[in-house]
Amino acid sequence: MLRSGRELWSAFFAAILITGVYGMVVFATRKIPSASELFGHSLGIFGFILMLMTETLYSLRKRSRSARWGRMSSWLQFHIFTGLVGPYMVLLHTSWKFNGIAGVTTLFTIVIVISGFIGRYIYTRIPRTSDGLEIENSLSAEALKSARRLMALWHTIHIPIGMALFVSAFAHIGAALYYATFLK
Ligand code: HEM
Ligand code: HEM
Repeated sequence: MLRSGRELWSAFFAAILITGVYGMVVFATRKIPSASELFGHSLGIFGFILMLMTETLYSLRKRSRSARWGRMSSWLQFHIFTGLVGPYMVLLHTSWKFNGIAGVTTLFTIVIVISGFIGRYIYTRIPRTSDGLEIENSLSAEALKSARRLMALWHTIHIPIGMALFVSAFAHIGAALYYATFLK
């Protein structure tokens, strides 16, 4: 269940681990890892793969409606874990420069993570079974209705941001590979 915050702690520890490795690379090379060299590039690629998983896996599980694939609430926890660790790796990939379309992609990434936290907050306000399904309760019907409406409104914002993010990410990847990798 999301209320335990386990996925947030796991993401936090993963981020500490990744920061440790990043720190060791900075210490060994005495410079900020460049986005186009082995370490910085790998951070971008692995981070982006985690973000692609975030975009697709939970939605697929939600639509399959089959318990065979595991609990929906566990998939949402995994969604949040990869939705935090992926963007963090990508942030370290940037080499702290934010020019052009790559900078725009980073901005979308930050916005979707902030939006995710807001969605997570609204989501946990709605009473649910351990599988994440909403519980109807006549006593809290009015409160439940407004939280549901808020969740629906949030979906209409979070999902297009995700789409815009991936359009700009693919443009960045195409341009970066063309100019910084293949032309070299
Ligand atoms: C959402 C995911 C990603 C974000 C937000 C992102 C963001 C960035 C940023 C901000 C930079 C620095 C731009 C600058 O110099 O001002 C950069 C550079 C770069 N990125 Fe990404 N990146 C992402 C994914 C990827 C992936 C998956 C690849 C490779 C397949 C990649 C390849 C590169 C390369 C090669 C550079 C260096 C470009 C150069 O030296 O001119 N990026 N990226
Ligand atoms: C790379 C970052 C992320 C992307 C691309 C992303 C994308 C998405 C998408 C496409 C959905 C809609 C799923 C569906 O209804 O089919 C969704 C739902 C959701 N996301 Fe994210 N997300 C990201 C990060 C996060 C983060 C960091 C959090 C929490 C801190 C979060 C929390 C949620 C919640 C609570 C839902 C609603 C679940 C539901 O109503 O069933 N997301 N996300």
